[in-house]
Amino acid sequence: MSRQPIADQFDQPIIVLELPARVGSHSVTLECTARQLADLEMLTSGAYRPVTTFMGYDDWRSCVESMRLADGTLWPIPITLQLHSQVLPASTCEIRLMHQGRHLATMEVMERFTPDLAREAEMVYATSSQEHPGVVALYEAGDVVVSGPLTIHALPRSFTGPEYLTPLETRLAIRDRGWRTVVGFQTRNPVHRAHEYLHKVALELLDGLLLHPLVGETKSDDISAEIRMRAYRTLLENYYPRDRVLLGVYPAAMRYAGPREALLHALSRKNYGCTHFIVGRDHAGVGDFYGTYAAQELFDTVDPAELGIEIIRFEHSFYCTRCEHVASKRTCPHDSSQHLALSGTKVRSLLSGGAMLPAEFSRPEVAAVLADGYRSV
Ligand code: ADX
Repeated sequence: MSRQPIADQFDQPIIVLELPARVGSHSVTLECTARQLADLEMLTSGAYRPVTTFMGYDDWRSCVESMRLADGTLWPIPITLQLHSQVLPASTCEIRLMHQGRHLATMEVMERFTPDLAREAEMVYATSSQEHPGVVALYEAGDVVVSGPLTIHALPRSFTGPEYLTPLETRLAIRDRGWRTVVGFQTRNPVHRAHEYLHKVALELLDGLLLHPLVGETKSDDISAEIRMRAYRTLLENYYPRDRVLLGVYPAAMRYAGPREALLHALSRKNYGCTHFIVGRDHAGVGDFYGTYAAQELFDTVDPAELGIEIIRFEHSFYCTRCEHVASKRTCPHDSSQHLALSGTKVRSLLSGGAMLPAEFSRPEVAAVLADGYRSV
């Protein structure tokens, strides 16, 4: 195989492997990983429009370097099919994407290249640390990227609950409800009272709320989608006006890319019919990799007309024991000794120790679902 270096304006040398002639070409069968499956589901359902297939080199490079597709469309995170070169013969012309014996799609391989993963990590995740779960997943996914048109044989469907709605089904549900403004809420954590506060403040101003928990792969210590969905159902039954809220699921895997992922979350929610999108503290962040308001600051740099969805920003919210309700420092004059805010780590350690979450943090019905979920794993 010959190697052709690309001479371009970027510092990092990027090597593209030329496609060999299609003589004696191979069809390769690939059992999708959870992340590949989630990406395939997002692409084929239209959730990532205008991206409808795994990206090739030009889109990958442009996306990494300038948060745009090669045609200039705003797009912050590469959606690529990464594989390990040792399982991909040089003559591969077709990849059969499988899941548990089902043949979901076939990619006609038009391009194959070696991505500069260090550059992708630094640009997209703002770190190359092996402590970052998104960076680890990026490196584990493989050293080669393939791209080409997809033929879909069966639509992947990662979640079996009644809340599964494709982007089209969600837009139809919104139309049926007659909502003119809809605010989307992305979440990967069990719902708590600060979340509920954001939902309800937004609902004071807008017609409807699309609650959209991410149900694709998350890091192993995050609470499972099934338990989180049970918590949502319970909360809705007890505390939300049914005709103002739609509970769906967002099949993507979590990348933990902070600001860039917040932008991806917002753009994708437009495809689900949202006109507005909530971004609070450390959206899609992990550990201390991103500033508390880094995601909001990225939105400050994007032209609202190009973004096409309005961002509803929230400050860090907490339960104030003096105010006796959830507030933020925009509305509460008391100091932090009066505030209750539990980290995800603290929540998990309380639950795994068999303790109930405090009522100021979590509605008792939700706390019971979470405690029960923890007991049964
Ligand atoms: S995320 O990874 O999906 O962003 P999480 O489910 O915790 O994590 O957050 C969902 C949304 O609620 C994000 O927009 C996040 O910024 C916001 N959020 C979560 N907790 C708070 C809080 N205490 N105060 C303000 N915003 C919050």
